[in-house]
Amino acid sequence: MTLEEKIGQMNQISSYGNIEDMGVLIKRGEIGSILNEVDPVRVNALQRVAVEESRLGIPLLIARDVIHGFKTIFPIPLGQAASFNPGIAEEGARISAIEASAAGIRWTFAPMIDIARDPRWGRVAEGCGEDPYLTSVMGVATVRGYQGESLSDPTSIAACPKHFVGYGAAEGGRDYNSTFIPERQLRNVYLPPFEAAAKAGAATYMTSFNDNDGVPSTGNKFILQDVLRGEWGFDGFVVTDWASATEMIAHGFVADAKEAALKSVNAGVDMEMVSYSFVNYLPELIKEGKVKESAINEAVRNILRIKFRLGLFDHPYVRETTEDIFYAEAHLEAAKRAAVESAILLKNEGILPLKESVCTVAVVGPLADAPHEQLGTWIFDGDKNYTQTPLAAIRQLYGDRVEVIYEPGLSYSRDKSTEGISRAVAAAARADVVLAFVGEEAILSGEAHSLADLHLQGAQSQLIEAVAATGKPVVTVVMAGRPLTIGRQVELSAAVLYAFHPGTMGGPALADLIFGKEVPSGKTPITFPKMVGQIPVYYAHHNTGRPASRTETLIDDIPVEAGQTSLGNTSFYLDAGFDPLYPFGYGLSYTTFRYDNIRLSDSELKKNDILTVECDITNTGEYEGTEVVQLYVQDKVGSVTRPVKELKRFTRVNLKPGETRTVVFDLPVEELAFWNIDMVRTVEPGDFGLWVATHSQSGDEFSFKVMD
Ligand code: NOJ
Repeated sequence: MTLEEKIGQMNQISSYGNIEDMGVLIKRGEIGSILNEVDPVRVNALQRVAVEESRLGIPLLIARDVIHGFKTIFPIPLGQAASFNPGIAEEGARISAIEASAAGIRWTFAPMIDIARDPRWGRVAEGCGEDPYLTSVMGVATVRGYQGESLSDPTSIAACPKHFVGYGAAEGGRDYNSTFIPERQLRNVYLPPFEAAAKAGAATYMTSFNDNDGVPSTGNKFILQDVLRGEWGFDGFVVTDWASATEMIAHGFVADAKEAALKSVNAGVDMEMVSYSFVNYLPELIKEGKVKESAINEAVRNILRIKFRLGLFDHPYVRETTEDIFYAEAHLEAAKRAAVESAILLKNEGILPLKESVCTVAVVGPLADAPHEQLGTWIFDGDKNYTQTPLAAIRQLYGDRVEVIYEPGLSYSRDKSTEGISRAVAAAARADVVLAFVGEEAILSGEAHSLADLHLQGAQSQLIEAVAATGKPVVTVVMAGRPLTIGRQVELSAAVLYAFHPGTMGGPALADLIFGKEVPSGKTPITFPKMVGQIPVYYAHHNTGRPASRTETLIDDIPVEAGQTSLGNTSFYLDAGFDPLYPFGYGLSYTTFRYDNIRLSDSELKKNDILTVECDITNTGEYEGTEVVQLYVQDKVGSVTRPVKELKRFTRVNLKPGETRTVVFDLPVEELAFWNIDMVRTVEPGDFGLWVATHSQSGDEFSFKVMD
């Protein structure tokens, strides 16, 4: 390979114009990958130029953001995480890969496994929420789904865990913002999902936009070389995020595009997305001796290794018919299953599932029949004409059981006009139950869509107040890309189902949940704040030296001219109190579950032992249902302070009414390791607390000891 041909492999462009224009560059060997090309006929035409007309015949790698579905859209990743079911993530990714690869796409920029503890950040929708363990499990499942049994299978697409690293900790939740994550926190909280994905064989990684402690990830040798390659043995390739190499100029980390290329490649980036500084400046940087040709050779080897593994040299072309693959019946069925399992029942005063006595339902709210909005963020290729909305599904599936009166009240989520609300109220007055579909339009979450206020937008709060004032029970269904501060709406509602953006099949999933054909089982993958000022609020925080005792005086009870120390000098908010709206791991069912007989195999363990924890779970209600049983631990005393709780295991158990099953968790003591005061990953001996519980704030504490 000539130097130019090598550098060409390190260059990714976004598809533009006609094949001939791109063909000129491809023929010169100047392009290694193209993103945003989704037409199999064009993919084949481009590939033909690369394979048959360029000197070396190296096939292109075609990429696309296939985030939660290509054509068939699954719930947003945050919704999928609420299922606490890696099988859902794996199946969704597999189907996405089958559909995308049919169009010639062999590389997706997913999963996003950024830990996000701030729902103002619009991209919280794209990840698995706040917890490193849940994110690791779901992330690994997603990688497996995309990459299949073997990358060389023509239906496999290379995964790209992103954004490496720390992007979700953007200050103030404002997208692209700086992060300040110290190395220990990086290692204990932000890196584990990426390490798990590397172990699962993820083929590529994407650098993040943020600078952490002053170093933009695209120029960060420590994370790209020392950690990713050195510590984890990663042998795939690293791509920048969109122009994140040259964006280091705006960061003030490099002076110009030439220095951007220099710092990116020397940090360990292999491929540049769209900003062309590699092609333009690497030849002279090599001549000047600032970049070693060996670094270029290494990068090209990393890229070609993945192209070989994908089988692109053997099968560069795709068949050009896709009709039997897109939106296949089985794909829609899987998307429905995922939407069912993603929904969280936050409140139920017994109204759900709707009883036979309910004859008339008023369907209100701007999201009851919004085929585009329920698909959520990052759905370039999903066609809203395939979307099944809740209104359509209720009419189609339950129209013979109930009369449906539809009065949306508002035409979209930000609609401030209150004109239609009186019609929604009239519909509510005629009905037995009100089904209110509210939340966020798709555009309000996702990249660059951060919000400073998490209330329901537009006049949606007024709509809920008005229909609730009729005295009819209100079932509120929220479709959103993030947790919203819906405390008041929860108060006004007899039941609340949180569906996130549930995708193509959200309608039938929600209809079946509402009418009881399905039973909710989702759990919050991120803490729901009461108010924005509580953020960051997450369950795995560290204790202060003065944790709240919960006996402190809150704002409404403070006497006038109270003494400075009379309220309790502890860590809490006078106005928000001690708790979020809903803690991590929370979610109800139509049935109830009892936890009995929690038993630990040992009370004292050595570092290479395995702790076995068993618990009997009984379905004590009247519906068959699934409980997500969660195991948390706390390392009581460490060489550095440790979180008050950490999720270590979870499992879903399906039980018939009255049925009891024993859940068994095996937890190797080794998994209690953390990066300690000496920045060494180790298990420190001492006392541990343990909970087997229905959510992060429940359950009795058990204890065990790790011996020296
Ligand atoms: C920018 C986003 O940050 C990244 O997640 C995405 O994959 C790329 N653009 C490509 O579209």
